[in-house]
Amino acid sequence: MSKSFQATKAVVTGSSSGIGRAIALALAKAGVEQLVVHYRSNESGAVETADALRDIGCEPVLLAADLASSDGRQALVSGAFETLGEIQTWVNNAGADVLTGSAAAMDFEGKLRHLLEVDVTGTVLLSRTIADRLMDQVERTSSSIPASMVFIGWDQATEGMEGDAGQMFGPIKAAVMAFANSLAQTYAPRLRVNTIAPGWIRTSWGESTSDYWNDRAAGQSLMGRWGNVDDIAKAVIYAADPANTFLTAQTIQLNGGFSRRF
Ligand SMILES: NC(=O)c1ccc[n+]([C@@H]2O[C@H](COP(=O)([O-])OP(=O)(O)OC[C@H]3O[C@@H](n4cnc5c(N)ncnc54)[C@H](OP(=O)(O)O)[C@@H]3O)[C@@H](O)[C@H]2O)c1
Repeated sequence: MSKSFQATKAVVTGSSSGIGRAIALALAKAGVEQLVVHYRSNESGAVETADALRDIGCEPVLLAADLASSDGRQALVSGAFETLGEIQTWVNNAGADVLTGSAAAMDFEGKLRHLLEVDVTGTVLLSRTIADRLMDQVERTSSSIPASMVFIGWDQATEGMEGDAGQMFGPIKAAVMAFANSLAQTYAPRLRVNTIAPGWIRTSWGESTSDYWNDRAAGQSLMGRWGNVDDIAKAVIYAADPANTFLTAQTIQLNGGFSRRF
């Protein structure tokens, strides 16, 4: 395995569960020495991630912050930089869950507004501040290695998908992916910005969904199966790897190859 993550520090937003936790653990296995486990309200999940990081030899730092609030974003920025000092890898993974839990009871407009507030406005405003801080850091340290930021999109966002889920997540994740590309254009060559766009990944919604969606998720992948959180984590490691200095402004679709046969 590449040693390029050794002695580096990272932040993974929304790493109290699911894809974010898998990314945090993969970064730790790749050699990241200190990592901020950010979460909003799932403290026990964040502690579980932190315990698993410690077992791998990575020092966890727990930071709770609601990305929908300006105070929350500010607390995450100052908490992360004050504790870690320098940060080489920032992963914007956090996203509102409107499919399970209490938000699932909201109507379409409520879900859309919530997603806009967290996934779009929250992520965009947070990332602009982080990008500025990372640029200052690269200049201050005269580092020849660009910092890296990774976003999580959605493979069907720009093509479209029928129904409420497509009409909600499509514009939300398309906005995230478009923003990431503009950030890459703004800050190159000192900051690399890439997006991983997952297909059907079996997380909490996938574990309890209907037979129809179960068959569809597996059937729409050329590999004939759901993706899992580790599939995404591996792609994030590739995108964030400090040695991958020629990789920026890319969106990698991670869906097992979208099948047109289903
Ligand atoms: N699963 C899929 O098939 C799939 C496909 C495409 C894209 N994605 C995207 O991948 C990312 C991770 O998804 P997942 O399935 O792993 O979801 P998840 O298990 O629900 O994790 C979401 C994370 O985001 C955090 N979060 C939610 N609202 C927040 C807020 N207002 N402020 C700060 N943090 C907040 C959660 O924190 P707490 O739980 O601690 O509150 C949690 O850590 C999301 O951006 C999602 O949209 C998922």
